[in-house]
Amino acid sequence: MVKKICCIGAGYVGGPAMAVMAQKCPSIEVAVVDVSRPRIDAWNSDRLPVHEPGLYAVVRACRGRNLSFSSDVDRHVADADIVFVSVNTPTKSRGLGAGLAADLAYWESAARMVASAASRSATNGESKSKIVVEKSSVPVRTAEAMERILLAHGGGEGDDAAFHVVSNPEFFSEGTAMRDLLCPDRVLIGGRDRDAVRALVDVYAHWVPEDRIVTTTSLCSAELSKLAANAFLAQRVTSANAISALCEAVGADVSDVSRAVAMDRRVGGGAFLNAGVGFGGPGFHRDVLRLAYACDCNGLPEAAEYWRQVVAVNEYQKSRFVRRVVSSMFGTVAGKKVAVLGFAFKKGVADTRESPAVDVCRGLLGDRAHVSMYDPAVSEKQILRDTAGKVRVARDAYEAAEGAHGLCVLTEWEEFRTLDYRRIFDGMQRPAFVFDGRNVVDVGKLREIGFVVYSVGKPLDPWLKGLPAVA
Ligand code: UDX
Ligand code: ADP
Repeated sequence: MVKKICCIGAGYVGGPAMAVMAQKCPSIEVAVVDVSRPRIDAWNSDRLPVHEPGLYAVVRACRGRNLSFSSDVDRHVADADIVFVSVNTPTKSRGLGAGLAADLAYWESAARMVASAASRSATNGESKSKIVVEKSSVPVRTAEAMERILLAHGGGEGDDAAFHVVSNPEFFSEGTAMRDLLCPDRVLIGGRDRDAVRALVDVYAHWVPEDRIVTTTSLCSAELSKLAANAFLAQRVTSANAISALCEAVGADVSDVSRAVAMDRRVGGGAFLNAGVGFGGPGFHRDVLRLAYACDCNGLPEAAEYWRQVVAVNEYQKSRFVRRVVSSMFGTVAGKKVAVLGFAFKKGVADTRESPAVDVCRGLLGDRAHVSMYDPAVSEKQILRDTAGKVRVARDAYEAAEGAHGLCVLTEWEEFRTLDYRRIFDGMQRPAFVFDGRNVVDVGKLREIGFVVYSVGKPLDPWLKGLPAVA
């Protein structure tokens, strides 16, 4: 019977995942531990380090009851029946696999901590077998490496093992973490030891219907499923983006094409078929490249190349957008004010990691545009950090657009659909351009007002046809 759970890593994944676990399993004590003292202090305060709708209410209700945040890693690891490992696995910035492979230094140090905490409690005669759950997004076969580290610290083998390693990747999306955690499409648990897998199933079964808990996969299939899920979704968006380029060339409308494709039952609905200025976020780019790297490392260069093309087409989509802006504005944006609406990688989040808006802004700044930026959620500090302080941050869309030659929409925030575009038009230079990278504006209405409108994957504005291209 599981009584105590510990999670190493109080980050974006570990914090929300454990808060929901504590909420749904009142009989289990859940401790979230981290080497970073400030992070733990933040989790114990009213200003949590992770912002997700609904998270604070759950943390407030459970903290002090069966949910705690602590920097005493050793004690909680030693006490726990199940230890989740949810530490950061950033992409390596140097050495072998730089830019592609995961840096497993934090992960390895966490594995060693588990091993030594457990062997200390064994020496004190408190030995009990532990389930170690790999929660972080990791390369395929990392769990096997974890087993070796634990084994090397005297973990025993087979039925006598002091540890059983299980892979349980996390699939929630940013901005909807609580909803996704409370009502997941699936919970995936891969592992060799049936009792260990069963123990984890029993925890999730407190709130997840058993038919959504998949336990038939091996450790390695569970790990690969996480990479594959993100890569498939990224590939789906990228297919829509590649179609959008052709739509513009031949005069078709990508929304109509995507809708028609989505109506085929075999495609399974329209999610992740919206063309745009490119996908962003910390997961997609990272996991597509990790998948390609795994293919390369296993002697599968053709498969690797397929996945690399997803990233290459995503880069193309961003640079194609910048080229469209520059060529429309008569081949130069130097000294011209360009308003940018939206900087987050998607609506509903304040996160700019891998946001296509960052690259588009860099492209515009590289062509010496004067960029004026408005995003309803991203802080001024973050915008300036991502743009080396080279943009002006406006208080609202109207201020950003005042006096601008062009306006780019780069995040699909709802409020951009209902702006007073007549007012914006009145304040802009002529011709007044709108470049919609997210298909949010009503193209017909804006053209009636007098804008020259470009919207990704839509038939080109007659005004833009025949303008010299820029390379
Ligand atoms: C993703 C996965 O969805 C999630 O399962 C995983 O655990 C983490 O990575 P997230 O990064 O939060 O989640 O964002 P997601 O909602 O998947 O969007 C990723 C990017 O794709 C965003 O930039 C979004 O704007 C873009 N996108 C998405 C499109 O351009 N078109 C679409 O149709 C859908
Ligand atoms: P993720 O998005 O995967 O949750 P984050 O970077 O948000 O990643 O959080 C990972 C957390 O793991 C960080 O707060 C970091 O301090 C913590 N961490 C890294 N290594 C260890 C370790 N060995 N022991 C405890 N905590 C760790």
